[in-house]
Amino acid sequence: MDRDSWVSNVGFVLAAVGSAAGLGNIWRFPWLTAENGGSAFLVMYLLLVIGVGVPGLLAELVLGRRGRQTPIGALRTLIGSRWGTPLGAFNVITTVVMLSFYSVVGGWILRYTLLAPTGAYFAQPQQYFRHASHGLPAVGFHLLFLTIVAIIVYFGVSRGIERVSKIMLPAVVVLLGGLAIWTATQPNTAAGYAFYLDFDGNYLATHFFDVLGPAAGQALFTLSLGAGAMLTYASYLDEDVSLPRDTLVIAISNTVIGVLAGLVVLPLLFSQGISPGQGGPGALFVALATAFGSLPGGALVATVFFFTVLLAAVTSGISLLETPVATLVDNYGMSRRRATLLMTLVIAVTGSGLALAGPMFRFVSGPVVDVMLTIGLFAFLAIVGWILRQDAVAEFQRGAGRLRGFATPWVLAVSWVLPVVVMFLLTTTLASLASLSLATVMRVAIAVFATLICRTAVTRTTHDDAGYSNR
Ligand code: TRP
Repeated sequence: MDRDSWVSNVGFVLAAVGSAAGLGNIWRFPWLTAENGGSAFLVMYLLLVIGVGVPGLLAELVLGRRGRQTPIGALRTLIGSRWGTPLGAFNVITTVVMLSFYSVVGGWILRYTLLAPTGAYFAQPQQYFRHASHGLPAVGFHLLFLTIVAIIVYFGVSRGIERVSKIMLPAVVVLLGGLAIWTATQPNTAAGYAFYLDFDGNYLATHFFDVLGPAAGQALFTLSLGAGAMLTYASYLDEDVSLPRDTLVIAISNTVIGVLAGLVVLPLLFSQGISPGQGGPGALFVALATAFGSLPGGALVATVFFFTVLLAAVTSGISLLETPVATLVDNYGMSRRRATLLMTLVIAVTGSGLALAGPMFRFVSGPVVDVMLTIGLFAFLAIVGWILRQDAVAEFQRGAGRLRGFATPWVLAVSWVLPVVVMFLLTTTLASLASLSLATVMRVAIAVFATLICRTAVTRTTHDDAGYSNR
């Protein structure tokens, strides 16, 4: 069967940046930055994007292009064992779970965009958000958001996703840039810029490990790793495209979008005397609404701001829906039309459930998603670093030009460093779920130990000659 593919490499890159740049950049990033010491978090985050995010993204793209299929088929072919099916299925379920909550938040954003011109939520932001964020109104806007995403996916990779990304992503950058400039003209923003941009070495030294966890988590989340969405996008890619170059472009563009969002959100909050970082992501809706409510031209700026977030959320949502849809097409020979309809119905129901049940929503959007993404990414790293090795290096080098030389350090990082970092994040999430307060040293020790056990188990079960020894 003929698979759809990207018309151009630029189209792929824009779609991948579209997947990466979403609520994570404009919502989660400023809020995490605010919670974790501002500039200290920014620096740590940038280092982790380079050291962990970039090699991780490369691993997922390598799997996608080498496997030339959606997660189930790709992993089954690549590891040559039946384990590929449950692993790939786990990815597909992750995207469904993610989109269920993502689409609910997308619905909030849609509502805030449509109602911004009327200033509906400026007067009583707190009550308004409480009313809008769950219950039947939230279900309605979730369904509306999901429909937009579904229509794009319905048209397929080249005619739907690529075309839309080529318009929406540049629009996000231009609008965010405009908003950042507007913000700079507002009074009383100096404290916000200082908090965000004046590097505070002292804070970092005293809070190093407190900042490390959230910064590493954000570096992986923002690049859409561990769900098989990037893998799926890469499966539509040409053989001669340089994966390392594309990875760098994707990571840099995505980071620019996150940093720009911080340049809008943080100074705005400070200018209103609102202390950011308290009360989690919901509070940001409230705080921003308060800020927009008291600024001149606030209704217009709020409209532009939420519209920008909406575009970013849609381009992430399409990669989340594309993964299960394309899996049904690849593995069950379903038509794209039917597959889109079916998956949209499923997520309509699961998302509505989350929109109605507040505690469930918080549980799924927080720890459940974190755990699923880290397990998914750990599996990708294990496959690339422990099983494929030389095949992965070959895929890295195909079309890579001068960047070929980075293949060896990359594969070493993927097999020895990244799995421990990801396992550390998993340990941290699981420990806090179990209300265990483990010291950092303890969590590091568990992470190293668990990684070694997994490594032994994986290398024992793969008897084939794929595991060329590297030393
Ligand atoms: N990167 C997206 C954002 O920043 C969110 C995301 C995380 C995601 N994991 C994903 C999107 C997997 C698609 C697939 O908003």
